[in-house]
Amino acid sequence: MAVSVAGIALQNPVLCASGTFGYGVELEPLVRLDRLGGLVGKTVTAEPRRGNAPPRTFETPAGMLNSIGLENPGIESYCEEILPRLRGRAFRVFANVAGEDARSFARLVSRLDRAGGVDGIELNLSCPNVAGGLDFSTDARLAREVVAACRAETRVPLFAKLTPNVTDPAPIAVAAREGGADGLTCVNTVLGMAVDWRRRASRLSARHAGLSGPAIRPIALRVVDQVRRAVGGPILAAGGIATAEDALEFLVAGASAVQVGTASFVEITAPERVAADLPALLASAGVGDVNDLIGTLPKD
Ligand SMILES: Cc1cc2nc3c(=O)[nH]c(=O)nc-3n(C[C@H](O)[C@H](O)[C@H](O)COP(=O)(O)O)c2cc1C
Repeated sequence: MAVSVAGIALQNPVLCASGTFGYGVELEPLVRLDRLGGLVGKTVTAEPRRGNAPPRTFETPAGMLNSIGLENPGIESYCEEILPRLRGRAFRVFANVAGEDARSFARLVSRLDRAGGVDGIELNLSCPNVAGGLDFSTDARLAREVVAACRAETRVPLFAKLTPNVTDPAPIAVAAREGGADGLTCVNTVLGMAVDWRRRASRLSARHAGLSGPAIRPIALRVVDQVRRAVGGPILAAGGIATAEDALEFLVAGASAVQVGTASFVEITAPERVAADLPALLASAGVGDVNDLIGTLPKD
């Protein structure tokens, strides 16, 4: 089951997705973290953030909407209190950061580099850029600029996390790779909304929110396919993955590893279950090594 993603050796290709699993350590009594390929932490920002006011999640058919607003303890607390608890384990540690501009992204990456103990860094480009108001991952120039600024600060593998909320993700993926990203994570949430017609109000305090869960799986798969055809791998796939079957669909389509997100809200051990179910499922198809399956979907 072992795979290598941008030079990071994972014992299996299953990670938890950012923001859906805390920082992992909080879940230790409930989940056997050492059975996962890797943990991606919730997005960390320069300063601690309380996030948006409630309500900030809402269940939808086949998924959920969230507008957490990047609640997190800040980079110092992450480096001082959380990272030391994740050292020396069987899973790989991926940090996920978001800044307000290229410089603040770069400072976060530099701090992680100094802290050590991080195997990979995901850049959450799906957050508004204070200067222009645009989401970094909807603009190829901005995406390239952020990744290049971060690249200058570290040799730790960088993954640009892409949004599905664009007409064509390929130019953004190309720009992120040109900026120096080692890989791409596809995808963040799909913009959505829910209205309570009786109250004449949005169901969420932030009005618009991110849709995730099985509802977005076909969208995520399509983005993985487009990105793979445009720039190749490595790709970390996220979007509605809840079973080993789902995971294998993404691996065949070109992902090197998968992230389980919203499924953890239904069943906290979902990532562990997906990892545990993979060997038997592969064996049932006569595949002995998961690497023999990755990217086997013809490109045309
Ligand atoms: C409650 C919630 C919080 C999330 N927080 C973050 C976050 O802090 N940073 C990030 O990059 N993605 C965040 N995501 C997006 C997930 O990491 C993932 O990309 C997305 O939900 C699609 O995967 P899924 O359908 O398996 O959940 C969040 C998703 C949910 C549902």
